[in-house]
This record gives sequence, structure tokens and C-alpha cells, in this order.
Amino acid sequence: MSEELQQAKYGSKLLEKRILVLGGTSGIGFCVAEAAREFGATVVISGSNQSKLDSAIQRLEKGCQGSVRGYAQDLSNVTRLEESLENVFNLATQDGVKKLDHIVYTAGNVVGLVDLANLDTDLITANGIMRFHVPIMIGKIGPRYLNHSHQSSITFTSGYSHLRPRAGRVLMGGWAAGVEGVTRALAVDLRPIRVNCVCPGAVHTELFDRLPKNDLDPLVDAYVSKTLTGTIGRPEQVAEAYLFCIKDSFIDGTIVHTNGGYLLG
Ligand SMILES: NC(=O)c1ccc[n+]([C@@H]2O[C@H](COP(=O)([O-])OP(=O)(O)OC[C@H]3O[C@@H](n4cnc5c(N)ncnc54)[C@H](OP(=O)(O)O)[C@@H]3O)[C@@H](O)[C@H]2O)c1
Repeated sequence: MSEELQQAKYGSKLLEKRILVLGGTSGIGFCVAEAAREFGATVVISGSNQSKLDSAIQRLEKGCQGSVRGYAQDLSNVTRLEESLENVFNLATQDGVKKLDHIVYTAGNVVGLVDLANLDTDLITANGIMRFHVPIMIGKIGPRYLNHSHQSSITFTSGYSHLRPRAGRVLMGGWAAGVEGVTRALAVDLRPIRVNCVCPGAVHTELFDRLPKNDLDPLVDAYVSKTLTGTIGRPEQVAEAYLFCIKDSFIDGTIVHTNGGYLLG
């Protein structure tokens, strides 16, 4: 670590902090992990796919000192959710010995557009696990593995579908609003540990690769046309919102928006 970084008043805030990024193997989470590494944090990442995890670790280790740890764990199985999360937290902290300073949650499945006529309760439940159940369970289990201080934080991820819904977004809109409510309620329950949520606009990540191209292009065009910046987001930009939630130890119970001015366009 350079002497310059160690002495920097603002640049040293993440030095030797331990940060777990659940969903850090691609997209926004990967960039949060990459940025935290650049500022000298010890980073642990997870995702469900082992080969994707291995590749992310390799990319994160390039150009920085020290190794990056990572654990593959599928968080979409609701009956095993508590056990799965405990596994990751135990591995990330060496069974609770090396406590975390920050938890960032960016893991998310793709929730497609929904035709109300085809909606049933199974679909609602299945789509909600990663977006609603996991954040609440992180609130239940995470604090056992976090340093108990206002310097520590949990940062969740929502989305913009509840603020400016388009047709077919009933599930995404519901879950996005849900996690923001969970954020504010957990901030009260978990005090002094801070709990915040980043609400990103459309961001060009690997998630886009999982959408059919015919659906994607019109969605991107429609989004860009309503922004003030005239751009789609990049994960390197949006990662800054998470760093803000981590580093400002006075921000708590807050939703941070980063969307190119989409709500005003
Ligand atoms: N990109 C956007 O335009 C946008 C806009 C608003 C909100 N968001 C939200 O922001 C979050 C991050 O999005 P992104 O674009 O960065 O997505 P991404 O590149 O697809 O990354 C998703 C991450 O979640 C992990 N993940 C997915 N399913 C998982 C599972 N069952 N268990 C454990 N980990 C799992 C992925 O790893 P594996 O693939 O290995 O499981 C990956 O690390 C998501 O919640 C997304 O809905 C994104």
C-alpha cells in the first residue's frame, strides 16, 4: 500500500476494512469490490456460479497486493436461505473471528416483464426471494458478523421500477419498494450499524446479457431518451454510490439514487 494512500484523510477510509460483497462476481457488485480493493480494503465476494467466481477473483487480484477471497453460494433456495447465508458469513469471517466492517448486497436474479394474466403466487414468491427475503435475512444474521459500530454498514440494492414503472413491472416495482422499506426499518433495528440502499437506474452490466436482444434494445433506447445525461449507466459510476454509503459514517436509513436524471426526464 502506498504511503500516500495511507496518509490520505479521505482516501484511507477503507484501508484494512473487511468488506463482503454478496453478488460481487459481476456487474455493479464487481465494481464495488474492485473500487474497495483500490482503496486498500480486504474484499470477500460471492455469487452462485463457481467458474464466474474464480474469474472475478483473478481479475480483482490483478494490479493489487494481497489475495481476494470468494465463496460460491446460491441464495435463491428459500428453505436453505438462513443456512446458505451463515455459510458465506462464516467463510468470509473465519467463523466470526475476523469481523466484517461492511456488507454490500448486489446479488439479483433477472425479473422479467410480467403479463398480469399469467401471474400466479408461485411466480411472485420465486421472484421475491433474492430481492426481499435475502435482505431481511441479512438483517437478521449479518450483525453477528459485523463490528458493532456506526462505522459499520449494510448496503442493499433496489431499482427504479417503483418510481417510474413501465408496463409489466409489477413484480420489480413491488420488490424495489419492498427492499427500500426493509432498509429503513432495519436501520432502526440494527442501530448503530448503518443500513442504506442504492437505487440504480439502468446500468449496462452482465445482467443485460441475460435479456433477449429484441427486448433489450428498445428498453435501453426508451431509458436513455428519458435521462438528462443522455446515457445508460456504467457499473463503475454506480459503484461510487455504494462507496459513499460505506464511507460516510453519518448516512443511515437512506436511499441513494444514481440514474442519469431519469426521474426528471
Ligand atoms: N443493471 C441494471 O440495469 C440494474 C438496474 C436497477 C437495479 N439493478 C439491480 O442491481 C443488482 C445488481 O445488478 P447487476 O446489473 O450488477 O447484475 P449482475 O451483473 O447480473 O450481477 C448479479 C450478481 O448476483 C449474483 N447472483 C445472481 N443470482 C444469484 C444467486 N441465486 N445466488 C447468489 N448470487 C447470485 C451473480 O453471480 P452468479 O451469476 O454467479 O450467481 C452476480 O454476482 C441486481 O439486484 C439488479 O436487479 C440492476
